[in-house]
Amino acid sequence: MIAAVGVVAAVYAVWLYFGLLQTIVVSLILAGIYLILFHTRWCYVAIKTAPRDLRALWCYIKILWITRSLSRKNWTLPDIFHETVQRNPNKPCFLFQDEVWTFKEVEDYSLRVTAVLKKHGVKKGSIVGLLVNNSPQMPALWLGNARLGGVTPLINTNQRGNALLHSISVAKCDVLIFSDEYQSAMQDISSQLDPELKLFKFSHRPLNTTKAEKNASGDGIGDLTSLLEITPPAPWTLADADGFQGKLLYIYTSGTTGLPKAAVISNSRFVFMACGLHNMRLNSSDIVYCPLPLYHTAGGVVSVGQALVFGCTVVLKSKFSASQYFPDCAKYKATAAHYIGEMCRYVLATPPSPADKLHNVRVIYGNGLRPQIWTEFVTRFNIKYVTEFYGATEGNANIANTDGTPGAIGFLSRIFPKVYPIAIIKVDEETGEPIRDASGLCQFAQADEPGVFVGKISNNNPTREYLGYVDKAASDKKVVRDVFTHGDAAFISGDILVADELGYLYFRDRTGDTFRWRGENVSTSEVEAAISTVADHRDAVVYGVMVPNTEGRAGMCGIVDCDGTLDLQLLARDLARDLPPYARPVFLRVMASMDMTGTFKMKKTDLQKEGFNPSLVKDDKLYYLDLKQGKYLPLGSEEYEKILKGTIRL
Ligand SMILES: *[C@@H]1O[C@H](CO)[C@@H](O)[C@H](O)[C@H]1NC(C)=O
Ligand SMILES: *[C@@H]1O[C@H](CO)[C@@H](O)[C@H](O)[C@H]1NC(C)=O
Ligand SMILES: *[C@@H]1O[C@H](CO)[C@@H](O)[C@H](O)[C@H]1NC(C)=O
Ligand SMILES: *[C@@H]1O[C@H](CO)[C@@H](O)[C@H](O)[C@H]1NC(C)=O
Ligand SMILES: *[C@@H]1O[C@H](CO)[C@@H](O)[C@H](O)[C@H]1NC(C)=O
Repeated sequence: MIAAVGVVAAVYAVWLYFGLLQTIVVSLILAGIYLILFHTRWCYVAIKTAPRDLRALWCYIKILWITRSLSRKNWTLPDIFHETVQRNPNKPCFLFQDEVWTFKEVEDYSLRVTAVLKKHGVKKGSIVGLLVNNSPQMPALWLGNARLGGVTPLINTNQRGNALLHSISVAKCDVLIFSDEYQSAMQDISSQLDPELKLFKFSHRPLNTTKAEKNASGDGIGDLTSLLEITPPAPWTLADADGFQGKLLYIYTSGTTGLPKAAVISNSRFVFMACGLHNMRLNSSDIVYCPLPLYHTAGGVVSVGQALVFGCTVVLKSKFSASQYFPDCAKYKATAAHYIGEMCRYVLATPPSPADKLHNVRVIYGNGLRPQIWTEFVTRFNIKYVTEFYGATEGNANIANTDGTPGAIGFLSRIFPKVYPIAIIKVDEETGEPIRDASGLCQFAQADEPGVFVGKISNNNPTREYLGYVDKAASDKKVVRDVFTHGDAAFISGDILVADELGYLYFRDRTGDTFRWRGENVSTSEVEAAISTVADHRDAVVYGVMVPNTEGRAGMCGIVDCDGTLDLQLLARDLARDLPPYARPVFLRVMASMDMTGTFKMKKTDLQKEGFNPSLVKDDKLYYLDLKQGKYLPLGSEEYEKILKGTIRL
């Protein structure tokens, strides 16, 4: 207090004697001295992070600018795309196998879709589900529907049986278009489908084939492809939809547990996600390689959006192939490529080849490039920039690593934290509930302290709004109240992150993906990463299993060994070196292959249910870790009994 009065008095004296200019200079010097003396650390952090923050701020302003102007026009995606088409009608929009689809051709196709769907009664508010493989037609199908004001659920094509039925019914589809590959999957559930549901079968045919098969298939299912081929494009009009804030797509989040939930993607959110990435490193002359499925936000919004909103050329693939990743990039002259974490590991596991560097890819973007392989990946494949981003499909907490700091998924500004209100809050690790202070507000995690990532909700700002799921109850579960101030609300991501002193954020875990063993918390993703690193980047999935009469859960690892080359004793030795004793998997399950969800997240719940019981696990070999020998030994029914009785100690 006295010091402050002293400073003010000194500044006033200087002003009286020397005038205004000198006063400002002296004040700045004093302020500088004050900061350096009393907030040395803060100065250091501010200087180190200012370029990063200013760059990101600039990107953020550009995003707000674009979304603001589209919001004023109140356009929907087909209208925005129309403007892109006007700019470059004959530029390639999608490359797929040997097909080239220009912007004009994609729009024409979507206008045919509009004409056909309109004839079949689709109108504003109709729900037209797509169970369609990756192809240039896929985005054109939903664009055509959106022009009529319809919403399009993009159904995960791996879904069968109950899950498929659930996806169709939870979205309340009026019409469903499915690729002919899924005819038998549809037949399996046909008796349980709503008889009102109109079905159309779609077959992928390259653009210029005109041999429309006139014969009807006879089972009441319309042949959409033939209809499209014989129907002239609808005349172009602005979409008859709910404007920029209106619903565009439903995208299902692929949980590793439970049935899929349909998240709402509005036009504004679509643009925001595409725009967020675009501003990081891309420009409209980029050719983007996207081997991801188009029914998820990553492929279907972030990458496809580069074409629809910004006029980039996007290369689509029907299936990801590790050995084809960079050869494809070279073939299509891609300058940017999309990844998700597991893909990088598969690509890295391919044998080195001269083709590794013979491509023009300047930037790769995506999520989940693990810190353990980041540097190796960019060095081996000669990648200049990595844009790692993080964003939940259904949420509003979106961040990106804008400066390529290895391993970081984004950052929190230390200088202007208020500009983009996201935070890491402390939670109870067992229940996942936020820990609150005396006044009931959430507590924020300090640097290096793990916590759950949240994003403040404010509607009408496309970067901050939360649209949730189609299912209202599921939406409310992801909202936490009284976070920054009383009465506010935030989207709670469920992902545990850690911020370092400079504000860089690192992914730690998913809530629920830790288990307790010998009184320690074991993070499954950490153990998975360690195992995969010592075992030649094999697929490994770690989960906790209950052992009778034992506290907590014992770690179990399902690991893939398709050709019998996995050396278990070497694995035990390497893990003993890299992991603390409590984190080493107690049980191993060696599998010929692994069931994956569409995003290569491994399905843990089924494995967890079967546990280490040899009578439940029939096709795979089981092992347990013998502590004294430090070796994995086979686990048959005899050993299983002994473990239950406690005569084999774990
Ligand atoms: C279709 O035919 C037109 C005109 O013959 C041609 O310009 C275009 O490249 C063809 N498109 C594809 C995908 O082969
Ligand atoms: C249409 O007819 C042709 C020949 O008559 C046949 O080969 C083809 O399978 C039929 N297509 C359908 C969809 O039934
Ligand atoms: C955009 O258009 C929709 C439907 O025509 C309308 O309901 C909405 O109020 C409009 N929004 C703005 C901001 O003009
Ligand atoms: C735009 O993209 C092209 C193609 O990748 C690249 O050569 C060029 O340097 C980029 N321009 C800017 C300003 O980044
Ligand atoms: C593990 O998590 C629990 C629950 O949050 C916590 O109380 C405990 O301190 C943690 N233990 C260790 C060793 O970190």
